[in-house]
Amino acid sequence: MTNSLFDDPRYAACYDAFFPPQERDDHRFYLPLIMAARSVLDVGCGTGKLLHHAREAGHTGRLVGLDPAEGMLTRARRRTDVEWVRGDLTSVSYPGEFDLVVMTGHAFQELTADEDLRAALATIAAALTGGGAFAFETRNPAVRGWEGWESEYALSIPDPEGSGGVVRMTIEAETPVTGDIVYSITRLTGPAWPGLRTSRSALRFPGAEEVDARLAEAGLTVAERYGDFDRSPLTAGSPEIVTIARKERA
Ligand SMILES: C[S@@+](CC[C@H](N)C(=O)[O-])C[C@H]1O[C@@H](n2cnc3c(N)ncnc32)[C@H](O)[C@@H]1O
Repeated sequence: MTNSLFDDPRYAACYDAFFPPQERDDHRFYLPLIMAARSVLDVGCGTGKLLHHAREAGHTGRLVGLDPAEGMLTRARRRTDVEWVRGDLTSVSYPGEFDLVVMTGHAFQELTADEDLRAALATIAAALTGGGAFAFETRNPAVRGWEGWESEYALSIPDPEGSGGVVRMTIEAETPVTGDIVYSITRLTGPAWPGLRTSRSALRFPGAEEVDARLAEAGLTVAERYGDFDRSPLTAGSPEIVTIARKERA
């Protein structure tokens, strides 16, 4: 199930106001990794802010942002010194071209079907140079964070189109949650939407053991593991499972 919101240019226009890049801990974690790599693929790059920042911070190597959602990519394309590609990991092939692949903003959790996850990891492994790294995070299922989404994601911002109105968003997980897929409903109101805009989406919540098994299948080995973007160790109460996995040197 793809989340149609990301294809909606009105939502894409709000995304970086709802989640300001300068306030994002994940950006502080990923940016140094990107700056240290010569070539970087950002899978599910969304509005492209992380790669924008890498260029602004002086990255001179190859930066590629991949995303299936045209709405989000339209924002990303505001910078033309990054390669922007519409698609997903089933539609591209980059054999041995990247030192680093990242998936941020929980884009990894969009891979809900087993076959999609396997295919994605195989493409990522093939895209890495020997010794290259895949860095990403997925929310820790043990803390059942979705139970707090209604308050965590009750957000409002000034209309980015400058109407003077307000855009409001809520996200509510469907309960009960069984298995490792969490379905949720996003509701948006604002000047750009004549009525209530709703969208249902699905995110996968694999545990660390499953993440590691899938990585191993693809030939990737966990090199670093954290429970949050501050590099604290993963515990049962950690909000995130942050992973840097490596491909062996040839
Ligand atoms: C929550 S956004 C995160 C965007 C960005 N990485 C960030 O950190 O702000 C998730 C992104 O994943 C993209 N996405 C959804 N399904 C995907 C897939 N199968 N492969 C790659 N990206 C996907 C969406 O279009 C969306 O832009």
